[in-house]
Amino acid sequence: MSRKLSIWLAWLVLCFSLASYFGYQMFLEEQKPDFIIGEATHGHHQIEMSCDTCHTDPFGGEEVIHDACLGCHQEELKTSHDSHPIKKFTDPRNADRLEKINAVSCVTCHGEHKQDQTFEMGVTLPDDFCYECHAEIAEERPSHEGMGFDTCASAGCHNYHDNRALYEDFLLSNNEGPMIKAMAQVLARTGTQSIERKASLSIDQADAPSASPEHLKEWSESIHATAGVNCTSCHAPQGQAWQDDPGLAACNSCHTHEEKGFLAGKHGMKLSIGLGKMTPATGRAAFHENADTTGLDCASCHDAHKPEPKLAAVESCTSCHNDTHTQNYANSPHAELWKQELKGELPAGSGVTCATCHMPREVHKEFGEEVVRVQHNQSMNLRPNEKMIRSVCMDCHSLSFSIDALADEVLIENNFKGLPSQNIPSIQMVLDRETK
Ligand code: HEC
Ligand code: HEC
Ligand code: HEC
Ligand code: HEC
Ligand code: HEC
Ligand code: HEC
Ligand code: HEC
Ligand code: HEC
Ligand code: HEC
Ligand code: HEC
Repeated sequence: MSRKLSIWLAWLVLCFSLASYFGYQMFLEEQKPDFIIGEATHGHHQIEMSCDTCHTDPFGGEEVIHDACLGCHQEELKTSHDSHPIKKFTDPRNADRLEKINAVSCVTCHGEHKQDQTFEMGVTLPDDFCYECHAEIAEERPSHEGMGFDTCASAGCHNYHDNRALYEDFLLSNNEGPMIKAMAQVLARTGTQSIERKASLSIDQADAPSASPEHLKEWSESIHATAGVNCTSCHAPQGQAWQDDPGLAACNSCHTHEEKGFLAGKHGMKLSIGLGKMTPATGRAAFHENADTTGLDCASCHDAHKPEPKLAAVESCTSCHNDTHTQNYANSPHAELWKQELKGELPAGSGVTCATCHMPREVHKEFGEEVVRVQHNQSMNLRPNEKMIRSVCMDCHSLSFSIDALADEVLIENNFKGLPSQNIPSIQMVLDRETK
């Protein structure tokens, strides 16, 4: 064997054993912290310990991580009409832009384990990075002269991905309107047509092996008994043995749409990769000390035997969450509207609850019919918060008022009590351009 070849072989063996060693270590739970360079991002800290969720192949580099990102986020970027989709850069006309910033890979802008270099929304590039591709903007658009590149993505101006409420055409066609619309209401839920409703059940038809009078009463008065859903449909799904707390399995055989949304958001992200239920104790946000310790699933918000959606819209949330924004809700004009709706003084849909903003009602097509259902991914419109403009605020407010209100951090903190302190000029800039 030649000397060259043996050195090469030794090198190969060394590389392989090192790679296997590190690969093996990465899968050893107790060794993991040694490898973490820094804390995980705000978005991912709950799944940090499941290394192989992102590092799907210990020998793979950026590409395999990128594929993992797409696996969870592709649909969200698609529904938000991503302004800088990968295909924009595989277009040869834009290929030169990639020399400065490799925008075809998520990891270029969203690193992990680097808390000290991480900005909001897991962005690990400095906030003036738009310069690299849009340096000539002031020449193309004189209105932008003198603006700093760290202001492009300020509230109410532009986002890198989601500009649904900020496109010029949209700003122009919604440039007018009163602060509060005449019909200030959200859509009514229509029910879930896709689930089979069976004949209504009476109290003596309950099929539990044993039952307390309290359970029997609650259940018999619930929508489930009316729709023919018996005790065992939830407690012994698919002919399994009776379980007192069946978890997600109690609901997912019928409410697949709600389950999908729940698992895709922050509340369900642990369950979605088999890490068990998420408890308030593991959160970075502020929670009540005595908040539910059994962990999040459908029954955290819906009393399983009395699944009245009204009870889930505020009380469930405030039983766990305890940050200032949450605490201030009770004293907001929106909460006042909700109280009046509950008393029947205002039409249904006039009140604004936690769920109105965080779990908005959406129109879907089901068997050719339009149905209105609740988005159970409470992260879907959270950040950047301009996502709420079209899905929530504009049901009741003008575009201009919504942009200004969401750009105001004081209003977010006090849960929208008072008027916005400044006017974001985006709409005016589009109007000025039109009249020139
Ligand atoms: C197992 C699914 C999963 C994988 C894999 C995953 N994410 Fe996430 N990510 C989530 C969930 C769930 C959230 C929290 C809800 C939200 O903010 O959308 C989140 C949040 C985020 C956020 C927003 C953070 C914030 O503070 O608002 C960004 C940005 C992000 N992910 C990018 C990525 C990138 C880039 C990758 C690949 C390195 C990746 N994600 C891998 C599920 C995943
Ligand atoms: C060139 C930089 C860049 C690249 C590449 C990039 N992002 Fe982002 N991403 C951002 C910025 C900046 C934000 C902050 C919000 C904004 O401006 O839209 C963000 C925000 C997000 C969010 C928060 C929610 C939202 O809709 O804005 C998610 C999720 C996300 N990115 C996922 C991804 C995934 C997945 C990829 C890969 C397909 C990716 N990003 C590629 C810069 C980038
Ligand atoms: C949410 C996705 C995600 C999870 C979960 C995750 N990583 Fe990472 N990891 C990344 C990304 C993205 C990078 C690339 C970092 C960069 O280039 O900024 C990375 C880089 C690394 C690196 C290379 C260090 C570097 O900065 O180049 C190591 C080592 C690593 N991860 C180990 C781990 C271990 C061990 C775990 C489990 C405890 C883990 N990772 C969990 C996304 C993740
Ligand atoms: C890697 C290059 C690259 C980076 C970085 C980049 N862009 Fe772009 N951007 C493009 C390309 C390519 C287009 C489409 C062609 C054009 O209009 O120049 C575009 C288009 C746009 C548009 C036009 C409207 C639209 O949605 O089509 C806006 C607004 C925009 N970018 C804002 C930003 C902001 C804000 C940032 C920083 C947060 C940014 N871009 C970062 C390459 C980039
Ligand atoms: C065997 C099927 C089935 C199972 C299992 C099931 N449900 Fe239902 N659920 C229904 C039907 C049918 C309706 C009535 C349909 C409608 O009006 O939209 C309904 C209605 C609801 C409603 C809406 C009430 C309203 O007033 O609009 C909620 C909330 C609900 N279910 C939650 C749950 C939860 C939580 C679980 C698990 C603990 C669960 N369901 C298990 C079939 C089921
Ligand atoms: C819509 C699904 C569903 C139906 C229908 C249902 N349950 Fe439950 N039940 C649950 C879930 C989920 C839990 C666990 C979570 C909790 O305690 O809220 C539970 C908890 C229980 C418990 C143990 C915890 C406790 O509260 O003591 C008993 C006992 C019980 N149910 C009996 C019944 C009986 C009897 C019926 C029929 C009369 C019935 N359930 C109908 C979903 C259901
Ligand atoms: C059983 C307790 C519990 C209940 C009930 C609950 N949550 Fe949460 N929520 C959590 C936990 C835990 C997290 C994750 C926090 C973290 O990782 O820091 C979370 C995260 C969130 C986030 C994302 C925060 C962020 O910064 O990314 C929002 C928004 C949210 N919840 C809203 C709601 C709303 C609205 C309701 C009621 C409809 C509700 N929650 C009910 C426990 C709960
Ligand atoms: C964070 C709290 C929370 C969790 C967790 C949650 N829900 Fe809901 N759900 C709500 C709220 C609030 C509403 C009503 C909102 C409204 O009326 O606008 C609702 C509405 C519903 C409805 C009525 C039909 C619809 O979608 O419009 C069903 C069915 C339902 N939830 C089932 C489930 C199931 C099944 C799970 C578990 C996979 C679940 N929910 C988890 C808060 C929650
Ligand atoms: C009028 C709409 C609206 C209402 C009502 C509302 N929120 Fe929010 N919430 C927001 C906005 C906007 C943000 C900020 C998102 C961002 O920019 O980071 C937010 C942020 C949050 C966060 C993340 C806070 C953090 O510090 O990271 C939680 C948790 C939350 N809300 C829970 C609730 C709960 C619980 C209620 C009801 C008691 C509620 N919200 C009522 C619009 C609303
Ligand atoms: C269902 C209708 C509805 C929705 C949805 C709604 N609002 Fe409102 N909002 C109102 C009404 C009505 C008032 C006036 C209440 C009053 O003056 O008593 C109001 C008042 C306000 C105020 C002024 C409070 C004050 O003290 O004068 C702010 C700020 C506000 N809303 C912001 C928002 C934002 C931001 C969103 C979206 C995230 C939103 N609202 C969603 C109906 C709504």
